[in-house]
Amino acid sequence: MRTVPAVASPIVSATDDPADGWFPESVATDYDDPGGANAPEAVASVVDVLADLADGPVLEFAVGTGRIAAPLAARGVPVSGIELSRAMAERVADKPGGGEVDVTIGDMTRTRVAGEFSLVYLVFNTIGNVTTQDGQVDVFRNAAAHLRPGGLFVVEVGLPDLRRLPPGQDIVPFAMTPGYVGFDQYDVVTQEFTSNHVTVSPDGTGRFRRIPFRYAWPAEMDLMARIAGMRLKHRWADWGRSELTAESTGHVSVWEKAPHHPHEAPPLG
Ligand SMILES: C[S@@+](CC[C@H](N)C(=O)[O-])C[C@H]1O[C@@H](n2cnc3c(N)ncnc32)[C@H](O)[C@@H]1O
Repeated sequence: MRTVPAVASPIVSATDDPADGWFPESVATDYDDPGGANAPEAVASVVDVLADLADGPVLEFAVGTGRIAAPLAARGVPVSGIELSRAMAERVADKPGGGEVDVTIGDMTRTRVAGEFSLVYLVFNTIGNVTTQDGQVDVFRNAAAHLRPGGLFVVEVGLPDLRRLPPGQDIVPFAMTPGYVGFDQYDVVTQEFTSNHVTVSPDGTGRFRRIPFRYAWPAEMDLMARIAGMRLKHRWADWGRSELTAESTGHVSVWEKAPHHPHEAPPLG
């Protein structure tokens, strides 16, 4: 087993604030570029499902620039958000609906916001940005702490591409174009991996970004949910609510906080 090299600093430019973690100004500035996950149809597919599941105020963990929160608020859903990076969060209010989103700067493993929510959601692989099992359990427990009894916690995350990893190798490439190379590097012992992005400009100068993640199988997340007093309600392969199969590349899972039974023992932990 080769060792995964040390992860480089998230800071890319002098304008980056270390407190913004892996999403400082130099990342936030391009985050809302058109296309990909920002394409209107991609955003609408997420917002449609969340609007359908919401039954009152909702809270987005790691709200980012409001890619999802702003259009959800524009539909009339009361949306709050927690976000680590000020550089990302300060862009929320620029979007239609974003002025209605109440953003708190903080860490989703432990920051509490006022109110009780019908739905907490954490999308776009961001559970993986918390790189320890304890930290991910804390995310589930913090989600449950914000939910009313019967409230829902939604996570969207990719499945690790371990089936493409032959014995003795730890790297899975996912993009190879003239100006961009992307690959993931896995440590199957620790469940840590890095996502690596090499961008080469026409003048030959380049940029290398290595971002750390932790993967967890859906079954491990179900246990995290149980520790937090929640049970699986839905599991889909995507926002179109397709069935999860052996070929699926990600999942959208929905756990339900136990309805309030005054004589029942409290959740573990
Ligand atoms: C891939 S972006 C997703 C943003 C937004 N949810 C979206 O769908 O566009 C990941 C975001 O998670 C934030 N983040 C990472 N770890 C966090 C933590 N522990 N607490 C709060 N936010 C966090 C990052 O700052 C970044 O804005």
